[in-house]
Amino acid sequence: MKHSINEQGVLEVGGVDVSTLKKHYGTPLYVYDVGRIRKNARAFVETFEREGITAQVAYASKAFSSVAMVQVAKQEKLSLDVVSEGELHTALQAGFPPEKIHMHGNNKSRNELEMAVEARIGCVVVDNFFEIEVLKEILEEKETSMDVLLRVTPGIEAHTHDYILTGQEDSKFGFDLTSGQADAAFITLQKLSRLRVKGLHCHIGSQIFETSGFLMATRKLFDIMDKWKKDHDFVADVLNLGGGFGIRYTDEDDPLSLDEYAAALVKEVKHQAATRDYPLPEIWIEPGRAIVGDAGLTLYEAGSVKDIDGVRTYLSVDGGMTDNIRPALYDAKYDIVAAERMDEADEKTYSIAGKCCESGDMLIWDADLPHIRPGDLLAVFSTGAYGYSMANNYNRFPKAAVVFVENGTHQLAVRREAYEEVTRFDLSIE
Ligand code: LLP
Repeated sequence: MKHSINEQGVLEVGGVDVSTLKKHYGTPLYVYDVGRIRKNARAFVETFEREGITAQVAYASKAFSSVAMVQVAKQEKLSLDVVSEGELHTALQAGFPPEKIHMHGNNKSRNELEMAVEARIGCVVVDNFFEIEVLKEILEEKETSMDVLLRVTPGIEAHTHDYILTGQEDSKFGFDLTSGQADAAFITLQKLSRLRVKGLHCHIGSQIFETSGFLMATRKLFDIMDKWKKDHDFVADVLNLGGGFGIRYTDEDDPLSLDEYAAALVKEVKHQAATRDYPLPEIWIEPGRAIVGDAGLTLYEAGSVKDIDGVRTYLSVDGGMTDNIRPALYDAKYDIVAAERMDEADEKTYSIAGKCCESGDMLIWDADLPHIRPGDLLAVFSTGAYGYSMANNYNRFPKAAVVFVENGTHQLAVRREAYEEVTRFDLSIE
């Protein structure tokens, strides 16, 4: 990946050098290049526009939800995918238009559904029979209605980590297509006038590099839509193909560009609609990682170095699995640089350790860097998705701050947590 480096050999993000960011905000620090977020969003939006397709690009806010981020999504005319009351609350607090929000979840609570109905969000993606029942009751109580998408599991195994696989039959999400469960859900919904089925949804997994899974899912959705058209005279307005577009973390990854992903989907949807003489539906997608992943990096300060002669050198940083749990959880790989010494050659191999009291708290194994001294500033790239959003307070570390950088200016997007805030729910015993 190409990075901007100034004449002093210091990494720059969005026109601001990282030394300035360190001085202003301290470390560990999540830094977002807002221009990059916009560019990623526009790659999707503009491809659909170019292809003449009515589409919604819904940012999957689970990848990184904060008021400032939701505001950027709003500015970029994205829709928003939320999966909880907390994400919905964040969206509403940020002034996001409720009609462009849709809600997911495999166990939406009554409160969550009530909040969605009261806020008049655009639609609920229904996931199971229990939810349909609860939603029906709420809509009857409130004498209103709700658009819904029916989430199906198309029985596709995308090539990705098991924990982020979602489209296979044996999944906790959605209605299974092969066993007739999706049919039964559709028939149930047809009888409920307050739930209007706007279309279908599927999400086959995350960090996917090939288009084949998406295309196969599209075909399966058209198969069932065809059937429901024949049997029930139902025509879907919307086909939501989920998220999951893979990004580059290290050179081992070889993703398509975002417009290539979008163009491939459009081509398949147009082809399926044409060959089946089915009206062209709107295409909705829900990218999370592809919008924010490569727009974020994390700054750390180097601390202790432990040399085990002939075995390994551990270099510890002032963060770790509390700000980025992905290496520990998924064996995820990242690149790291000495951010203020970008002009120096690599001299030594370090394994980058977090500071949690846990051997598994390793951010990167075997990274080549210049000779590192305590106090050096390090940058880990592509931490924008599922970093802050999965941050935690293990060992009672406060959550790191988030800063937004754009056109040479920087501003705090999420303040660093204070120690008093770490203990804010603690009560003393009598
Ligand atoms: N739509 C649905 C229904 C999803 O379940 C997800 C992700 C997305 C969209 C967005 O997927 P994306 O475009 O970001 O791949 N914590 C894991 C990822 C979990 C993804 C869960 N669902 C990680 O750090 O890799």
